[in-house]
Amino acid sequence: MDLAGIEIRNPVLTAAGPTSQSGAILLEAARGGAGALVTKTICTRRALVKHPNIACIQQGSISKGMVNCETWSEIPWEQWIEKEYAIAESSGVKVIASIGYTADELVFLGPKVEDAGASGIEFSTHYISKSIGSLMEVAKSLKESVSIPIFAKISPSTENVKEVARAIEPFVDGIVAINTLGPVLAIDARAKRPLLGERYGWLSGPPIKPVALRIVSEISEVFKKPIIGVGGISKGIDAAEFLMCGASAVEVCTAALYWGPNIYGKIAGELEEFVRESGHSCAEELRASALHEREEMTKKPEIADNCTACGICERACPSRAISIEKKTVSDSCTRCGLCITICPVRAIA
Ligand SMILES: Cc1cc2nc3c(=O)[nH]c(=O)nc-3n(C[C@H](O)[C@H](O)[C@H](O)COP(=O)(O)O)c2cc1C
Repeated sequence: MDLAGIEIRNPVLTAAGPTSQSGAILLEAARGGAGALVTKTICTRRALVKHPNIACIQQGSISKGMVNCETWSEIPWEQWIEKEYAIAESSGVKVIASIGYTADELVFLGPKVEDAGASGIEFSTHYISKSIGSLMEVAKSLKESVSIPIFAKISPSTENVKEVARAIEPFVDGIVAINTLGPVLAIDARAKRPLLGERYGWLSGPPIKPVALRIVSEISEVFKKPIIGVGGISKGIDAAEFLMCGASAVEVCTAALYWGPNIYGKIAGELEEFVRESGHSCAEELRASALHEREEMTKKPEIADNCTACGICERACPSRAISIEKKTVSDSCTRCGLCITICPVRAIA
C-alpha cells in the first residue's frame, strides 16, 4: 500500500524506540512482519540515559502500560548513517528515519538520512516548544532540505492539536500521533522509590490508547494527508479503532517490547481479518467508512441468556438496579451503561 508516496508492505509499522534501536533489531522487526521500519530517533548528540530506563507499571503485565526515561538513540548519528540504516534497508522493507529536534538539527540530519537511503523521515516534536510558530518553522526547514516525504510526530501535550495540524499541513506529508504521555511518576511502593532511574518518566501502552484515538480523530477533522496512529496498539482490533478515527497506518512500540517482533505481522493479520469480517474489501475502505456517533441510550439494558451469573454487573451497578438471581434490571437503573462493558461475556445489551 501507499503511504504518502512510500510503498509499505502493510499498515503496521515499527515505532521509534528500543524496538527499533539498531539495524539488527530492525531486521528482526522486518522478519516479524512490520510494514515499514520507523527507526529510533537520532540527534546530533548521542543520548545519555539513566538506568533503569524501562519498567512495567504492573509487575509482569502490559495492561497498565510501561514507563520509560529513554530519550533518543545512544548510538551516534554517524554510526546510523554508516551502518545501521543499511542493515535495516537490506531487509527490503522501507525505512523511515526518525530524527530530532531543532530546526538546525533537522536540516543537518535530514539530507544525511536521505543520502543513507531512507524512504521517509519522521521528525519528533517531543523536546521542542509546541507553539504553532516553532512547529511550523521546524517542519518548513526540514521540508526545504530534503526531497523524501516527512512526517511530524505529535506529542500528547500539544495544545490546539487541530490548529497545529492545519498550520503544518503545507509543510509535511503526514502526521504521526502520539508520542508517550507525561511526565508521570511510577513508584515501587515496597522499595519506596521510583521505578525508573529518573524520578519522572513517560507513559506508553494500553492506558494511552484513548488519548491517542482522540488526538488522531481531532487531526483527521482538519488534516487531509495521511495520519499514522500510535499509542497502546497490541491487537488488530486496536489498529482498526485507529483506522476508524482517520489513521491510514499505525505504529507499535510497547506491545513489541512485551510480545517480541512477531507482533507486527500478528497485528497486521488480525487487522486484515477484522476488515474482511466487517464487510470491507480493504483497510482504506474501513477508514473511509468512518466512526458512527453513539446514539442516546433511551432504554434500560437487558440481560441475555448467555449470562453466567458471575455477579460482576450486580456488584458494579452504581444504582443497585441489577438482580443476577432474577436476571432483571429494575426501574432504579439510571442508564449509565457501565454493566454493558463490564460484563465479561457480553450478555448485557
Ligand atoms: C522505551 C521507549 C523509548 C521510546 N523512544 C522514542 C524515541 O526515541 N523517539 C520517539 O519519537 N518516540 C519514542 N518512543 C515513543 C513511541 O515511539 C510511541 O510513540 C509511544 O510509546 C506510544 O506507542 P506504544 O503505546 O505502542 O508504545 C519511545 C517509547 C518507549 C516505550
